[in-house]
Amino acid sequence: MNTGIEQRCRKIFQFVEDDVEAIFLFNKDILDKNYLYLTGFYFGVFENCGILIDRDCNPVFLTTALEEEIIISQFKGYKVYSYRDEDGRIKSISRILKAYKKVGIPFDSTTHSGFLWLEQNFQGIEWVDISGAFKKARMIKFEYEVENIAEAGRIASKVADSIPNFLSNSITELELASEIEYRMKKMGAQGPAFTTIVAFGENSSKPHYTGGNSRILDNYIVLVDFGAIYRGYVSDITRTFLVNNPPREAVEVYRIVLRAQEMAIDMIKDGESSKRVEREVREYIDSFEKYRGRFIHSLGHSIGRDVHDDGYPGEEWSNQFAAGMVLTVEPGIYIPNMFGIRIEDDIMVGKDLSRVLTSANKELIIHALQ
Ligand code: GLY
Ligand code: MN
Repeated sequence: MNTGIEQRCRKIFQFVEDDVEAIFLFNKDILDKNYLYLTGFYFGVFENCGILIDRDCNPVFLTTALEEEIIISQFKGYKVYSYRDEDGRIKSISRILKAYKKVGIPFDSTTHSGFLWLEQNFQGIEWVDISGAFKKARMIKFEYEVENIAEAGRIASKVADSIPNFLSNSITELELASEIEYRMKKMGAQGPAFTTIVAFGENSSKPHYTGGNSRILDNYIVLVDFGAIYRGYVSDITRTFLVNNPPREAVEVYRIVLRAQEMAIDMIKDGESSKRVEREVREYIDSFEKYRGRFIHSLGHSIGRDVHDDGYPGEEWSNQFAAGMVLTVEPGIYIPNMFGIRIEDDIMVGKDLSRVLTSANKELIIHALQ
Protein backbone atom coordinates (compact mmCIF):
# COMPACT_ATOMS: atom_id res chain seq x y z
CA MET A 1 0.00 0.00 0.00
CA ASN A 2 1.37 3.39 -0.95
CA THR A 3 1.47 5.82 1.92
CA GLY A 4 2.21 9.49 2.03
CA ILE A 5 0.26 10.78 -0.98
CA GLU A 6 -1.91 12.85 1.33
CA GLN A 7 1.01 14.53 3.09
CA ARG A 8 2.71 15.30 -0.23
CA CYS A 9 -0.56 16.67 -1.63
CA ARG A 10 -1.07 18.93 1.40
CA LYS A 11 2.47 20.21 1.10
CA ILE A 12 2.03 21.08 -2.59
CA PHE A 13 -1.35 22.79 -2.06
CA GLN A 14 0.24 25.10 0.54
CA PHE A 15 1.93 26.81 -2.40
CA VAL A 16 -1.03 26.79 -4.83
CA GLU A 17 -3.36 29.81 -5.19
CA ASP A 18 -6.58 29.39 -3.18
CA ASP A 19 -8.93 29.43 -6.17
CA VAL A 20 -7.24 26.52 -7.95
CA GLU A 21 -9.62 23.64 -7.31
CA ALA A 22 -7.49 20.65 -8.29
CA ILE A 23 -4.13 19.51 -9.63
CA PHE A 24 -3.97 17.51 -12.84
CA LEU A 25 -0.84 15.66 -13.95
CA PHE A 26 -0.82 13.66 -17.15
CA ASN A 27 2.16 11.98 -18.81
CA LYS A 28 1.27 12.92 -22.35
CA ASP A 29 4.61 13.28 -24.15
CA ILE A 30 7.02 12.92 -21.24
CA LEU A 31 7.04 11.22 -17.87
CA ASP A 32 6.50 14.07 -15.42
CA LYS A 33 8.69 13.69 -12.31
CA ASN A 34 6.01 15.65 -10.45
CA TYR A 35 3.68 12.70 -11.10
CA LEU A 36 6.26 10.31 -9.62
CA TYR A 37 6.83 12.64 -6.67
CA LEU A 38 3.12 12.97 -5.86
CA THR A 39 2.21 9.30 -6.34
CA GLY A 40 5.43 7.94 -4.85
CA PHE A 41 5.86 5.42 -7.69
CA TYR A 42 9.39 4.38 -8.49
CA PHE A 43 8.96 1.60 -10.99
CA GLY A 44 6.75 1.59 -14.08
CA VAL A 45 6.69 3.67 -17.26
CA PHE A 46 3.29 5.42 -16.82
CA GLU A 47 3.01 6.67 -20.39
CA ASN A 48 -0.48 8.15 -20.91
CA CYS A 49 -1.23 7.82 -17.21
CA GLY A 50 -2.25 10.62 -14.92
CA ILE A 51 -3.76 11.76 -11.66
CA LEU A 52 -6.28 14.36 -10.62
CA ILE A 53 -6.25 15.40 -6.98
CA ASP A 54 -8.54 17.91 -5.31
CA ARG A 55 -7.90 20.29 -2.42
CA ASP A 56 -9.07 17.62 0.05
CA CYS A 57 -6.35 15.40 -1.40
CA ASN A 58 -8.71 12.81 -2.86
CA PRO A 59 -6.89 11.32 -5.85
CA VAL A 60 -8.37 9.81 -9.00
CA PHE A 61 -5.94 7.70 -11.04
CA LEU A 62 -5.97 7.44 -14.82
CA THR A 63 -4.21 4.47 -16.34
CA THR A 64 -3.62 2.36 -19.40
CA ALA A 65 -3.88 -1.41 -19.07
CA LEU A 66 -0.08 -1.61 -18.85
CA GLU A 67 0.22 0.12 -15.49
CA GLU A 68 -3.16 -0.79 -14.01
CA GLU A 69 -1.81 -3.60 -11.84
CA ILE A 70 0.88 -1.42 -10.29
CA ILE A 71 -1.54 1.40 -9.55
CA ILE A 72 -4.27 -0.81 -8.13
CA SER A 73 -1.84 -2.77 -5.97
CA GLN A 74 -0.46 0.39 -4.42
CA PHE A 75 -3.70 2.34 -4.13
CA LYS A 76 -6.28 -0.25 -3.10
CA GLY A 77 -9.69 1.29 -2.60
CA TYR A 78 -8.90 4.48 -4.54
CA LYS A 79 -10.76 5.52 -7.68
CA VAL A 80 -8.97 4.27 -10.82
CA TYR A 81 -10.10 4.88 -14.40
CA SER A 82 -8.59 2.49 -16.90
CA TYR A 83 -8.69 2.81 -20.72
CA ARG A 84 -7.32 1.08 -23.80
CA ASP A 85 -7.24 3.86 -26.40
CA GLU A 86 -7.32 7.62 -26.98
CA ASP A 87 -11.09 7.67 -27.15
CA GLY A 88 -11.43 5.99 -23.76
CA ARG A 89 -8.75 8.24 -22.34
CA ILE A 90 -10.51 11.42 -23.39
CA LYS A 91 -13.88 10.17 -22.09
CA SER A 92 -12.38 9.28 -18.69
CA ILE A 93 -10.55 12.57 -18.34
CA SER A 94 -13.62 14.57 -19.43
CA ARG A 95 -15.68 12.81 -16.79
CA ILE A 96 -13.31 13.64 -13.94
CA LEU A 97 -12.59 17.20 -15.07
CA LYS A 98 -16.20 18.26 -15.54
CA ALA A 99 -16.56 19.25 -11.87
CA TYR A 100 -13.77 21.86 -12.17
CA LYS A 101 -13.25 25.27 -13.72
CA LYS A 102 -9.72 26.17 -12.61
CA VAL A 103 -7.13 23.42 -12.58
CA GLY A 104 -3.40 23.56 -11.84
CA ILE A 105 -0.83 21.95 -14.13
CA PRO A 106 2.96 22.45 -14.08
CA PHE A 107 3.78 24.43 -17.24
CA ASP A 108 7.50 23.58 -16.81
CA SER A 109 6.83 19.91 -17.52
CA THR A 110 4.00 20.31 -20.03
CA THR A 111 4.99 20.28 -23.68
CA HIS A 112 3.42 22.70 -26.11
CA SER A 113 1.64 19.87 -27.91
CA GLY A 114 0.47 18.47 -24.57
CA PHE A 115 -1.02 21.84 -23.69
CA LEU A 116 -2.81 22.11 -27.06
CA TRP A 117 -4.19 18.61 -26.48
CA LEU A 118 -5.63 19.73 -23.12
CA GLU A 119 -7.12 22.89 -24.60
CA GLN A 120 -8.69 21.13 -27.56
CA ASN A 121 -10.14 18.16 -25.71
CA PHE A 122 -11.18 19.63 -22.37
CA GLN A 123 -12.68 23.00 -23.09
CA GLY A 124 -13.94 25.48 -20.53
CA ILE A 125 -11.13 24.88 -18.07
CA GLU A 126 -8.68 27.56 -17.03
CA TRP A 127 -5.26 25.97 -16.72
CA VAL A 128 -3.06 27.60 -14.09
CA ASP A 129 0.70 27.16 -13.80
CA ILE A 130 1.70 25.42 -10.56
CA SER A 131 5.33 24.60 -11.44
CA GLY A 132 6.51 26.77 -8.54
CA ALA A 133 4.40 24.85 -6.01
CA PHE A 134 6.00 21.55 -7.01
CA LYS A 135 9.48 23.07 -6.94
CA LYS A 136 8.94 24.44 -3.45
CA ALA A 137 7.40 21.25 -2.10
CA ARG A 138 10.13 19.06 -3.59
CA MET A 139 12.95 21.27 -2.32
CA ILE A 140 12.44 20.44 1.38
CA LYS A 141 12.60 16.71 1.79
CA PHE A 142 10.55 14.41 3.98
CA GLU A 143 12.65 12.10 6.11
CA TYR A 144 11.96 9.08 3.89
CA GLU A 145 13.21 11.03 0.87
CA VAL A 146 16.48 11.87 2.64
CA GLU A 147 16.94 8.21 3.58
CA ASN A 148 16.43 7.11 -0.03
CA ILE A 149 18.95 9.69 -1.26
CA ALA A 150 21.34 8.62 1.50
CA GLU A 151 21.11 5.01 0.30
CA ALA A 152 21.69 6.16 -3.30
CA GLY A 153 24.68 8.11 -1.95
CA ARG A 154 26.01 5.12 -0.04
CA ILE A 155 25.89 2.97 -3.19
CA ALA A 156 27.61 5.63 -5.31
CA SER A 157 30.27 6.18 -2.63
CA LYS A 158 31.14 2.49 -2.39
CA VAL A 159 31.44 2.30 -6.15
CA ALA A 160 33.59 5.46 -6.22
CA ASP A 161 35.92 3.92 -3.65
CA SER A 162 36.33 0.83 -5.84
CA ILE A 163 37.34 2.80 -8.96
CA PRO A 164 41.13 2.78 -8.31
CA ASN A 165 41.00 -1.04 -8.70
CA PHE A 166 39.91 -0.59 -12.33
CA LEU A 167 42.46 1.99 -13.37
CA SER A 168 44.70 0.25 -15.87
CA ASN A 169 46.41 1.57 -19.00
CA SER A 170 44.09 -0.35 -21.26
CA ILE A 171 40.67 0.59 -19.84
CA THR A 172 38.56 2.99 -21.89
CA GLU A 173 36.24 5.69 -20.59
CA LEU A 174 33.19 3.72 -21.68
CA GLU A 175 34.49 0.52 -20.09
CA LEU A 176 34.97 2.32 -16.79
CA ALA A 177 31.48 3.86 -17.10
CA SER A 178 29.97 0.41 -17.61
CA GLU A 179 31.85 -0.99 -14.57
CA ILE A 180 30.42 1.86 -12.50
CA GLU A 181 26.86 1.32 -13.68
CA TYR A 182 27.11 -2.48 -13.33
CA ARG A 183 28.42 -2.20 -9.77
CA MET A 184 25.70 0.23 -8.74
CA LYS A 185 23.01 -2.16 -9.95
CA LYS A 186 24.70 -5.08 -8.21
CA MET A 187 24.41 -3.08 -5.00
CA GLY A 188 20.68 -2.54 -5.40
CA ALA A 189 20.45 0.64 -7.46
CA GLN A 190 17.64 0.78 -10.03
CA GLY A 191 20.11 2.25 -12.48
CA PRO A 192 22.36 5.24 -13.12
CA ALA A 193 20.86 8.61 -12.19
CA PHE A 194 22.11 10.10 -15.50
CA THR A 195 24.57 9.21 -18.22
CA THR A 196 27.75 8.41 -16.33
CA ILE A 197 30.54 10.88 -17.04
CA VAL A 198 34.01 9.38 -17.35
CA ALA A 199 36.63 11.74 -18.73
CA PHE A 200 40.31 10.96 -19.10
CA GLY A 201 42.97 13.61 -19.53
CA GLU A 202 41.97 16.74 -21.41
CA ASN A 203 38.40 15.48 -21.84
CA SER A 204 37.95 16.37 -18.17
CA SER A 205 38.03 20.11 -18.95
CA LYS A 206 34.51 19.79 -20.44
CA PRO A 207 32.19 19.43 -17.41
CA HIS A 208 29.49 17.48 -19.28
CA TYR A 209 31.68 15.27 -21.49
CA THR A 210 30.16 11.80 -21.22
CA GLY A 211 32.83 9.34 -22.34
CA GLY A 212 34.21 7.71 -25.45
CA ASN A 213 36.87 5.21 -26.39
CA SER A 214 39.93 7.05 -25.01
CA ARG A 215 42.29 4.98 -22.88
CA ILE A 216 44.17 6.25 -19.85
CA LEU A 217 47.62 5.51 -21.32
CA ASP A 218 49.77 8.60 -20.71
CA ASN A 219 47.05 10.67 -19.04
CA TYR A 220 47.10 11.80 -15.46
CA ILE A 221 43.45 12.65 -14.80
CA VAL A 222 40.40 10.42 -14.40
CA LEU A 223 37.22 12.40 -13.69
CA VAL A 224 34.08 10.42 -12.90
CA ASP A 225 30.66 11.97 -12.25
CA PHE A 226 27.77 9.62 -11.68
CA GLY A 227 24.91 8.71 -9.38
CA ALA A 228 22.59 5.89 -8.40
CA ILE A 229 18.80 5.76 -8.34
CA TYR A 230 17.36 4.16 -5.24
CA ARG A 231 13.58 3.95 -4.80
CA GLY A 232 13.24 6.73 -7.35
CA TYR A 233 15.70 9.07 -5.61
CA VAL A 234 19.13 9.96 -6.96
CA SER A 235 22.62 10.67 -5.75
CA ASP A 236 25.24 12.65 -7.68
CA ILE A 237 28.94 12.34 -6.91
CA THR A 238 32.15 13.41 -8.64
CA ARG A 239 35.66 12.25 -7.89
CA THR A 240 38.79 13.16 -9.80
CA PHE A 241 41.65 10.68 -9.57
CA LEU A 242 45.23 11.72 -10.23
CA VAL A 243 47.20 8.86 -11.76
CA ASN A 244 50.69 8.17 -13.06
CA ASN A 245 52.81 11.27 -12.82
CA PRO A 246 50.60 14.37 -12.70
CA PRO A 247 52.11 17.83 -13.23
CA ARG A 248 52.44 20.11 -10.22
CA GLU A 249 49.61 22.26 -11.54
CA ALA A 250 47.09 19.40 -11.34
CA VAL A 251 48.10 18.67 -7.76
CA GLU A 252 47.77 22.35 -6.91
CA VAL A 253 44.33 22.59 -8.52
CA TYR A 254 43.17 19.45 -6.72
CA ARG A 255 44.08 21.03 -3.37
CA ILE A 256 42.30 24.29 -4.22
CA VAL A 257 39.10 22.53 -5.34
CA LEU A 258 39.06 20.30 -2.27
CA ARG A 259 39.58 23.28 0.02
CA ALA A 260 36.81 25.22 -1.80
CA GLN A 261 34.43 22.29 -1.40
CA GLU A 262 35.18 21.79 2.30
CA MET A 263 34.76 25.52 2.87
CA ALA A 264 31.31 25.45 1.23
CA ILE A 265 30.15 22.36 3.14
CA ASP A 266 31.22 23.98 6.43
CA MET A 267 29.32 27.17 5.61
CA ILE A 268 26.02 25.71 4.41
CA LYS A 269 23.38 25.55 7.10
CA ASP A 270 19.81 26.65 7.76
CA GLY A 271 19.43 30.41 7.28
CA GLU A 272 22.81 30.94 5.58
CA SER A 273 22.75 32.98 2.37
CA SER A 274 23.18 30.86 -0.77
CA LYS A 275 24.58 33.90 -2.58
CA ARG A 276 27.22 34.49 0.11
CA VAL A 277 28.44 30.87 0.02
CA GLU A 278 28.64 30.90 -3.79
CA ARG A 279 30.46 34.23 -3.73
CA GLU A 280 33.00 33.21 -1.09
CA VAL A 281 33.85 29.97 -2.89
CA ARG A 282 34.24 31.79 -6.19
CA GLU A 283 36.35 34.50 -4.58
CA TYR A 284 38.59 31.87 -3.01
CA ILE A 285 39.17 30.16 -6.38
CA ASP A 286 39.60 33.51 -8.14
CA SER A 287 42.21 34.54 -5.57
CA PHE A 288 44.59 32.21 -7.46
CA GLU A 289 45.45 34.35 -10.45
CA LYS A 290 46.11 31.41 -12.78
CA TYR A 291 42.66 29.96 -12.13
CA ARG A 292 40.58 33.14 -12.03
CA GLY A 293 37.31 32.61 -13.91
CA ARG A 294 37.96 28.88 -14.36
CA PHE A 295 35.14 27.82 -12.03
CA ILE A 296 32.59 27.96 -14.82
CA HIS A 297 29.38 26.59 -13.33
CA SER A 298 27.27 27.04 -10.23
CA LEU A 299 28.30 25.55 -6.90
CA GLY A 300 25.57 22.93 -7.00
CA HIS A 301 21.90 22.09 -7.28
CA SER A 302 19.05 20.38 -5.50
CA ILE A 303 18.61 16.62 -5.99
CA GLY A 304 15.64 14.38 -5.34
CA ARG A 305 13.48 12.60 -7.90
CA ASP A 306 15.53 14.46 -10.52
CA VAL A 307 19.25 15.09 -10.73
CA HIS A 308 18.56 18.76 -11.16
CA ASP A 309 15.42 19.05 -9.03
CA ASP A 310 16.09 22.79 -8.87
CA GLY A 311 19.02 25.14 -8.38
CA TYR A 312 20.36 26.50 -5.10
CA PRO A 313 17.68 28.45 -3.19
CA GLY A 314 16.75 31.62 -5.07
CA GLU A 315 14.36 34.53 -4.53
CA GLU A 316 11.49 32.25 -3.52
CA TRP A 317 13.61 31.15 -0.54
CA SER A 318 14.95 34.67 0.11
CA ASN A 319 18.24 33.21 -1.17
CA GLN A 320 18.64 31.18 2.01
CA PHE A 321 19.43 27.56 2.67
CA ALA A 322 16.79 25.80 4.77
CA ALA A 323 16.93 22.63 6.84
CA GLY A 324 15.79 19.63 4.81
CA MET A 325 17.14 20.79 1.45
CA VAL A 326 19.34 18.16 -0.22
CA LEU A 327 22.00 19.71 -2.42
CA THR A 328 25.18 18.91 -4.27
CA VAL A 329 28.36 20.86 -3.52
CA GLU A 330 30.61 20.66 -6.57
CA PRO A 331 33.23 23.28 -7.23
CA GLY A 332 35.56 22.66 -10.16
CA ILE A 333 38.41 24.28 -12.07
CA TYR A 334 38.62 23.71 -15.83
CA ILE A 335 41.60 24.54 -18.02
CA PRO A 336 40.69 24.03 -21.70
CA ASN A 337 42.83 21.50 -23.59
CA MET A 338 44.58 20.49 -20.38
CA PHE A 339 42.38 19.16 -17.60
CA GLY A 340 39.45 19.75 -15.28
CA ILE A 341 39.11 18.86 -11.62
CA ARG A 342 35.76 18.68 -9.83
CA ILE A 343 34.81 17.22 -6.46
CA GLU A 344 31.14 16.71 -5.66
CA ASP A 345 29.24 15.48 -2.62
CA ASP A 346 25.58 15.47 -1.60
CA ILE A 347 24.48 17.09 1.64
CA MET A 348 21.31 17.54 3.61
CA VAL A 349 21.11 21.04 5.06
CA GLY A 350 20.76 20.92 8.83
CA LYS A 351 19.98 23.47 11.54
CA ASP A 352 23.63 23.87 12.55
CA LEU A 353 25.63 21.51 10.40
CA SER A 354 24.93 19.74 7.17
CA ARG A 355 24.77 15.96 6.93
CA VAL A 356 27.04 14.69 4.16
CA LEU A 357 25.29 11.84 2.34
CA THR A 358 28.20 10.69 0.18
CA SER A 359 31.35 9.41 1.81
CA ALA A 360 33.83 8.32 -0.88
CA ASN A 361 37.46 9.10 -0.17
CA LYS A 362 38.64 12.42 -1.60
CA GLU A 363 42.07 12.74 -0.04
CA LEU A 364 44.75 13.72 -2.51
CA ILE A 365 46.32 10.42 -3.60
CA ILE A 366 48.42 9.78 -6.70
CA HIS A 367 47.22 6.42 -7.92
CA ALA A 368 49.46 3.90 -9.63
CA LEU A 369 47.84 2.13 -12.59
CA GLN A 370 47.02 -1.57 -12.12
N1 GLY B 1 26.27 15.49 -12.34
C1 GLY B 1 26.10 16.30 -13.46
C2 GLY B 1 25.58 17.65 -13.15
O1 GLY B 1 25.31 17.95 -12.01
O2 GLY B 1 25.40 18.44 -14.04
MN1 MN C 1 25.86 17.55 -9.96
